[in-house]
Amino acid sequence: MKVTLSVIKADVGSIGGHNRPSLKLMEALHDHLKKEGQRLLIDYKITHTGDDGCLLMSHTKGVDNQDIHRLAWDAFISATKVAKSQGLYGAGQDLLKDAFSGNVRGMGPGSCEMEFEERPSEPFVLFACDKTDPGAFNYPVFRGFADPFHNAGLLLAPDMAVGFEFSIMDVNYTEGDRIIILKAPQDLYDMAVLLRDPEHYVIESVKTRSTGETAAVVSTSRLHNIAGKYTGKDDPVALVRTQKQFPSTGEILSPWATAHYVVGDNRGSHIVSIMPCKQNSIISFFDGPAIVSALGICVHNGKFTEGVDLFDQPFWDTIRNKSAEKTLHIRDQGFFGAAMAPMEELEYTGVVERIKELDKKFSVRHNK
Ligand code: F6R
Ligand code: MG
Ligand code: MG
Repeated sequence: MKVTLSVIKADVGSIGGHNRPSLKLMEALHDHLKKEGQRLLIDYKITHTGDDGCLLMSHTKGVDNQDIHRLAWDAFISATKVAKSQGLYGAGQDLLKDAFSGNVRGMGPGSCEMEFEERPSEPFVLFACDKTDPGAFNYPVFRGFADPFHNAGLLLAPDMAVGFEFSIMDVNYTEGDRIIILKAPQDLYDMAVLLRDPEHYVIESVKTRSTGETAAVVSTSRLHNIAGKYTGKDDPVALVRTQKQFPSTGEILSPWATAHYVVGDNRGSHIVSIMPCKQNSIISFFDGPAIVSALGICVHNGKFTEGVDLFDQPFWDTIRNKSAEKTLHIRDQGFFGAAMAPMEELEYTGVVERIKELDKKFSVRHNK
């Protein structure tokens, strides 16, 4: 059957700072989907990664469906009411518009969706990040799909040898979705020159070139392009189908072992190593670090199996230690040079305003 997977996530309040949603807030999300989603959904799962609640929903209504998006929006509105009643921090922070207007895209919550014909067994992974932005997926998705160092299937599995097609978005363009389609392997160097700048060019989706099926989708919202100023990091989510004509689950996980540096962390304005964490992990050190969770699931006739927590395995303890070391190394130099995000990515206006004031005090010395 043809099924649609929709992931919609938002931060609508958390305990102790920007750390994690309350149990009551999570309950409110559950209650809403259970009651109001009965007619619309086949199944759903709710998780949180740091301070973001994440709704994974299966249905047959296709992507960008107004009823599904409204259901998610209303779930976050009802969770916001709970957040306010409990005095949670940042209640409703990702709901940037007053009234729902047909689609959560451009309204604050992050979303990614895919519709496909279910295979007899349909394994996929739900990735969710906190304290970073969609560009965090550039590195692991590029390497998981296009690099035989990680994706041994590119060499060993005939189905995959033809490679993948990447849709890449210019997320600084605000008039519409500015997209380029590039193919691996022949366009690898073109992809590299774009993807090296993950705050500007972001992988939006990946398709197999053998069958044209969607393999991966990433949420690509830019909160500061919606609100006109930075209002927090976008804390992206992604769905990746795995096995057979797609990379194996382990091949897709493999690049995350780099614990690569991303923009985010404290005040969304630092460079930090992204740490692969267990489900429902919290945020702590320096309002970070940036974290990613991975839930493996099979969907069958739209129904989900229980999830397997893919970073809850002893191997990833070593990576978590490595990631903490990498973060501590860059934290050692505080705000100097590469440790703080570039000017355009600073989430708070303090630095920019201070430089404006200081500019007035500069004078030019003309040497004789
Ligand atoms: C970063 C983040 C935190 C906050 C920081 C200050 O994405 O969520 O680092 O920026 O805790 O928060 P406010 O401005 O809400 O006091
Ligand atoms: Mg928050
Ligand atoms: Mg968050």
